Amino acid sequence: MAQSGYILDADVSMGVSHTQYPPFFVLRNVDLQTFPMNARLLDVGCGMNARTTKFLQESGISVVGVDRDLAQEESCKDFLFQRDAHNLPLESNYFDLAFSHMSTYNIFSLQCGAGILRLVQDYYAQEIVKILSVTKEILRVLRVGGELRISPDPDTFLSDCKDEISELGGRIERRELCFDGSEIETVLRESDIPATYTAIVKER
Ligand SMILES: C[S@@+](CC[C@H](N)C(=O)[O-])C[C@H]1O[C@@H](n2cnc3c(N)ncnc32)[C@H](O)[C@@H]1O
Repeated sequence: MAQSGYILDADVSMGVSHTQYPPFFVLRNVDLQTFPMNARLLDVGCGMNARTTKFLQESGISVVGVDRDLAQEESCKDFLFQRDAHNLPLESNYFDLAFSHMSTYNIFSLQCGAGILRLVQDYYAQEIVKILSVTKEILRVLRVGGELRISPDPDTFLSDCKDEISELGGRIERRELCFDGSEIETVLRESDIPATYTAIVKER
């Protein structure tokens, strides 16, 4: 069960919110192949079993995973932390790339009903405040020039928070996923899965 008091997460915690996705799907959706092998990565809301974080770590990539509901294992204690993303146990100005897949920003994606959420204005406003606090914390741990990649694309966040993100020192960009034309990617493109993600680049 969700412990955070996040209404939506609590509502869907039995089914959806703890779903974990295969590493290749996650990495595909945040365009990770466009990053160098020596980048320092942060997986925000990495999932209870942190499959993608572990996959990257086992591949020799420098990565840290954070989730508020984590199945903790002694052997992973150096790179997996059970924490809420509002309060990361990590040093400032360190990471090159953070990514959040189907996690913290999910409620702002149209797939998750953000259009309807917006109608409940008080609730929506509260969620904006929370998500800005998470974004501020992620920007803190990124180096200048580093970026946070968010998938699925949090459509309404883009349009509603641009100025606030700018005040936090970030620049929001919507980006197209890089496709190499393979058959499987053609299938993905033609599916309902968005072919875009949102990046927040730390400018200062
Ligand atoms: C649907 S799962 C996705 C897990 C993984 N990113 C993946 O794609 O397989 C969402 C995860 O985000 C975590 N999460 C959501 N909001 C969070 C927050 N503010 N801080 C830490 N973890 C969070 C939940 O605990 C859950 O494990």
